[in-house]
Amino acid sequence: MKTSYNIRSIAAKAISQVLDQGLSLSTVIPELQKNVSDKDRSLLQELCFGTLRTLPQLEWTIQQLMDKPLKGKQRILHYLIMVGLYQLLYTRIPAHAALAETVNGAVALKKPQLKGLINGVLRQFQRQQDILSERFQNNESRFLHPSWLLARIKQAYPKEWEMIVEGNNQKPPMWLRVNQIHHSRKEYLALLEDNEIAAIADESHPYAIRLETPCNVNMLPGFDEGWVTVQDRSAQRCAELLAPKNKEQILDLCAAPGGKTTHILEIAPQSQVLAIDIDEQRLNRVKENLNRLKQQATVKSGDGRYPEQWCSGMQFDRILLDAPCSATGVIRRHPDIKWLRRNEDIAQLAQIQKEILHAIWPYLKSGGTLVYATCSILPEENSQQVEMFLSSTKDALCNYQNQCLPEPNGGDGFFYAVITKI
Ligand SMILES: C[S@@+](CC[C@H](N)C(=O)[O-])C[C@H]1O[C@@H](n2cnc3c(N)ncnc32)[C@H](O)[C@@H]1O
Repeated sequence: MKTSYNIRSIAAKAISQVLDQGLSLSTVIPELQKNVSDKDRSLLQELCFGTLRTLPQLEWTIQQLMDKPLKGKQRILHYLIMVGLYQLLYTRIPAHAALAETVNGAVALKKPQLKGLINGVLRQFQRQQDILSERFQNNESRFLHPSWLLARIKQAYPKEWEMIVEGNNQKPPMWLRVNQIHHSRKEYLALLEDNEIAAIADESHPYAIRLETPCNVNMLPGFDEGWVTVQDRSAQRCAELLAPKNKEQILDLCAAPGGKTTHILEIAPQSQVLAIDIDEQRLNRVKENLNRLKQQATVKSGDGRYPEQWCSGMQFDRILLDAPCSATGVIRRHPDIKWLRRNEDIAQLAQIQKEILHAIWPYLKSGGTLVYATCSILPEENSQQVEMFLSSTKDALCNYQNQCLPEPNGGDGFFYAVITKI
């Protein structure tokens, strides 16, 4: 059946919305995907994520091929050319199909008069592909990161920065968390094998399984029944470190979309969990996740900086603060972060984290445990934040701190500090 849409033009629109309007791919893609077949949805994802992952290379290549960049109303075609180049450079889509579909994208974008231009640029690229790819390897933007972020990563990790950058530029692995209430990890691995889904267990994390190839969740045995949750290996560590117990009062602060709320309830099904997030829309995802896993928690919107507005008079045995952060540890999952974040955001985020940490501390029972976590790799949001907190909070003792870096085929970049109240 012939489709009435052109995926390359939809990808160009998504990229324009990210780069020109500052929207995230996770906001833009679900909207644009609505009338697209399942098969084309994964192609759309691949084109959008891939283009933003390799943006500096595509931008540089266009500069070599065109005298003047397309601007104003024609700017959308600049992004369409990027989508075309990405396919030729990084996908197994046959070049003739990539070319024809991309050129047709100009018609879908109501600029049929520019078909010839798109065709010309992409064909010129094909002729010079080897030499251009080689020249790019000597270009300063070859690390595919904005210079401010690269400078921060180099400064924080003088030895590991190249490994981090390489990890950020890879496609992310898909990790599952097995719900122990239904199956042991060994049993679930057997179920995956029965369904011909290749996977391995991760020995350092009790519930984690990595799929050899990411797949649609509908293919996973018992996904709708809550047998497994998609969650990175490093994110799984948070609830493990929190170590919740049945009957305890637990606060999951900054909870949406609820990956860690549901994990807490898997570990301690009879704990009383209050899940708070500032974003009402995202809280719907927490409710959906709780429903899928048939779990119960109190879900409320609230600002972590002002707990007196939503938990006045309460005291918690454990608090998980999964703080808003730069998300620099999860760039491989969200390559748009590289272009949406600004250098000056880091100080602002560190300020919010500090305010939340200080505001919530009085609500932790004496002897209680707070886990401070971020998916950032920047010390300002992590070790330095905790150091400042400890130096100004007399009854806080840090028992454990760890900074994970994004590893190829391993976990995301994540930071955790386990702090007890003495
Ligand atoms: C890293 S995400 C949380 C991920 C979540 N814990 C999970 O495991 O699924 C950070 C969350 O912090 C929320 N947030 C940002 N600022 C906040 C604030 N001032 N108070 C409460 N939540 C906030 C965001 O809406 C976002 O959902």
